[in-house]
Amino acid sequence: MTYNNLEISTEDKIGLITINRPKALNALNKETIEELSNAFGELESNEDIRVIILTGSGEKAFVAGADIKEFKDFDGKQGQQLAQVGQTILFNKIENLKKPVIAAVNGYALGGGLELAMSCHFRIASDNALLGLPEVTLGLIPGYGGTQRLPKLIGKGRAMQAIMTAEMFKAEKAEQIGLVNEVVALEELLPRAKKIASKIAFNSPVAISKAIEVINLSDSDKGFEAEINAFGELFDAEDFKEGTTAFLDKRKPNF
Ligand code: CAA
Repeated sequence: MTYNNLEISTEDKIGLITINRPKALNALNKETIEELSNAFGELESNEDIRVIILTGSGEKAFVAGADIKEFKDFDGKQGQQLAQVGQTILFNKIENLKKPVIAAVNGYALGGGLELAMSCHFRIASDNALLGLPEVTLGLIPGYGGTQRLPKLIGKGRAMQAIMTAEMFKAEKAEQIGLVNEVVALEELLPRAKKIASKIAFNSPVAISKAIEVINLSDSDKGFEAEINAFGELFDAEDFKEGTTAFLDKRKPNF
């Protein structure tokens, strides 16, 4: 598949998606949302790929939000559809992807940009990153899941304050409050993301896929039961036999 706003590369079981609209600070227009949805689908079904990294092109922005120029004349119905379609085809799709997705946040991650990073399974950031949900400055609220995912990551009180004030968190603060897992120098961002991805790629993909599914249920009342069922199902999978045999043979598993 060819993309107008993305660059895709694959190497050593890792797929790298780079959002490439630097003139608009990688803002998410309709086409980019659709392309991202297709790119995640493509890498999810690529058997050579175990982990996906998502980043933005350039040194300034991961993603500066939904494309304001595109929705500035929308009415209520169109606004609702924007959020509905975006959440369905992209943000929820990433969160529930069967393969791990790491956001490598390289600069501004604002509005839809932070929402995109939050729908990834975890985030690492460069030291120049600035993260926030400034929608109220436009007379809006976050529409790509930000009101739901931010409180889960940083707590309700902090999320209330962040959304009401539209404040931007510097990378270090974002790490302190659990919005990102690690902060590294900009030039170290992709190497570090790839290092983490390689570590994940070495482990059982079947187990990792189940872990994603069950961790995503941790806020529901179905989580514990889902864990029991998934735990049981994994005993019947090939990877369990390989993992335990390798341990007992004192060798590395080959998943
Ligand atoms: N949409 C469209 N274009 C954008 C954009 C966005 N979200 N963010 C930046 N751009 C464009 C600018 O319009 C500008 O284009 P032109 O050169 O054609 O004028 C270009 O990118 C560079 O931006 P700036 O000149 O503004 O760069 P700066 O360094 O002065 O400021 C910034 C950087 C602080 C990120 C500023 O661009 C900014 O505040 N951007 C908007 C952030 C924002 O409000 N995001 C939320 C969007 S709403 C949303 O996401 C809704 C939702 O939840 C679904």
